[in-house]
Amino acid sequence: MSVTKILAEEFAGKQFTVREAYEVAGAVAKRPSIRARIYEGLKNNTFLRLAKGVYATTYTTEDGADGDCVLINGDGRDLSFLKDDSVDAIITDHPYALPGALKGGNRDFASYELFQYTEKDFEEKYRVLKPGAFLVEFLPEESAENFEYLTRVKQMAMKVGFFYYSKVPWQKGSFVANTGRKSKNAEDVMFFTKGKARNLRPDAKKDKADPSEKHYMSGANGMLPAAFNFEPPGKKERIHQAEKPLGLIESIVKYVSLPGEWLLDQFAGSGVLGAACAALGRRCLMIEKDDVAVGNIVERLQMGRVQLETA
Ligand SMILES: C[S@@+](CC[C@H](N)C(=O)[O-])C[C@H]1O[C@@H](n2cnc3c(N)ncnc32)[C@H](O)[C@@H]1O
Repeated sequence: MSVTKILAEEFAGKQFTVREAYEVAGAVAKRPSIRARIYEGLKNNTFLRLAKGVYATTYTTEDGADGDCVLINGDGRDLSFLKDDSVDAIITDHPYALPGALKGGNRDFASYELFQYTEKDFEEKYRVLKPGAFLVEFLPEESAENFEYLTRVKQMAMKVGFFYYSKVPWQKGSFVANTGRKSKNAEDVMFFTKGKARNLRPDAKKDKADPSEKHYMSGANGMLPAAFNFEPPGKKERIHQAEKPLGLIESIVKYVSLPGEWLLDQFAGSGVLGAACAALGRRCLMIEKDDVAVGNIVERLQMGRVQLETA
């Protein structure tokens, strides 16, 4: 069995040190060769370097198409451990802090850390995505309190080089927030691309002319809908306050990626992106800071976690 496979099987979904790699693969290869395999794996994300001498494997199945998943307990705004041009899509929902938004005795306020994006966040997203890849960001529906921030978010994304691809509202089914305002009953799903969108849109005309292969044009896999319509998970079934419906995330995953590709959620919450990727044969990297949320994801997806060593 190859060194890469031995390490992948031994450390699936866990972190390991070079010393541990030597111990596990020492019977089949010498130390320089084990190190060389790790470095090789870093190039294609089979291994991730989390800190000096600390690695994680992302490879857990024979054919790599079963939806491999890595969960990192760490800071999703720090993507320094990911290589340039290495991620096929980002689908994420950051916990936005809006001045005044939690006023007025709102009991459903977020129990986790809130923040506003800066340009550096977008620079990092841009750096790790492959050219043409999609960045999908959930944003609240525009309101008097947030419209300036929402505009800033889009401007920051475009300033670092993203193209504005589309905005699709998520209409929350028949859910009605009892606030007297409509803004709680919808969110916006922003689609950006790193430069010109990659080719995911089936080209039926070319397929007809040349049936020997599938042809694709620039753009998402299918025309995006005017709105996504999915009921949010009920209070009893959800494991996270801001949990998105699985059907919605699966739908987005299909529009922006292909089986076997790597998707990233920097703020994993309930781990719904991991669940969607597992169901659809994608690979998934999730980052979540909150220990309770991480524990819930581990339970939901029956997976291990990687504790990110922060400097
Ligand atoms: C809006 S929720 C995400 C919900 C998720 N999309 C879902 O459907 O389940 C945001 C999550 O980001 C986490 N978070 C906040 N700051 C973070 C950070 N710097 N790094 C990683 N996670 C963070 C919060 O703990 C929370 O679980």
